[in-house]
Amino acid sequence: MRKTIIAGNWKMYKSPKQALDFAHSLSDIEPNETVRVIVCAPYLALPLLKEKVTLPLEISAQNVHQEEEGAFTGEISASMLTSIGVDITLIGHSERRQYFGESDDVVARKVRRALSHELDIILCVGEHLEQREAGEEESVVSNQLKAALSGVSKEEMKSISIAYEPVWAIGTGKTASSEDAQAMGSHIRKELISLYDEETSSACSLLYGGSVKPENIDELLAQPDVDGVLVGGASLDPESFRKLVEAGNRK
Ligand code: 13P
Repeated sequence: MRKTIIAGNWKMYKSPKQALDFAHSLSDIEPNETVRVIVCAPYLALPLLKEKVTLPLEISAQNVHQEEEGAFTGEISASMLTSIGVDITLIGHSERRQYFGESDDVVARKVRRALSHELDIILCVGEHLEQREAGEEESVVSNQLKAALSGVSKEEMKSISIAYEPVWAIGTGKTASSEDAQAMGSHIRKELISLYDEETSSACSLLYGGSVKPENIDELLAQPDVDGVLVGGASLDPESFRKLVEAGNRK
């Protein structure tokens, strides 16, 4: 049975202290056994969160470098993350692709590096507005998936969840309709069957991201191929995040 995932991506918000205050104010959440609650925190907050915060709140990085180590000023490696106990990372967020030039090839290398360090991965895919208007959203997402998962085994797929985040819905207040989210979820499910098999596909948690908030999460999670959400803006406030977790419990 695949898990429901309620994940907050804090992007470049929250100091270590603000991150810890957030975690403390949610210390009483009680997600069901089938629900994972994850916050993707800025690097600087990770050591403090890993030291002070216990389950059910899981702590993820937002990015990881593709090389093992080397002269890559300002970057963070997979082994640095695991050295402080971080065992989850986002990879391929559209903001990384758009503002930091991460190509499909770089995303694929990050995936393989993270897997070699036994990190769980939330792999982000999604089309731009022009691509959707041209009816290309499914082929764009298929190509991103094929590239990112090249060389990834069936066994390794157990560590990967996939977040569909249409770029035009991120931070814009414009959510994809629950039908659009379901249509892409179903498409990704089929793509995973063709890349792997039925069992691997149906075990993979598929998330939707893009202007998710307490007001629209129930409708999104009601879709059979929306197993969870990746939330930016509405994950920053603890009371709003609490409502998202409660919606996860209702799925
Ligand atoms: P918003 O929820 O702010 O639209 O951000 C979505 C996102 O990018 C999560 O990774």
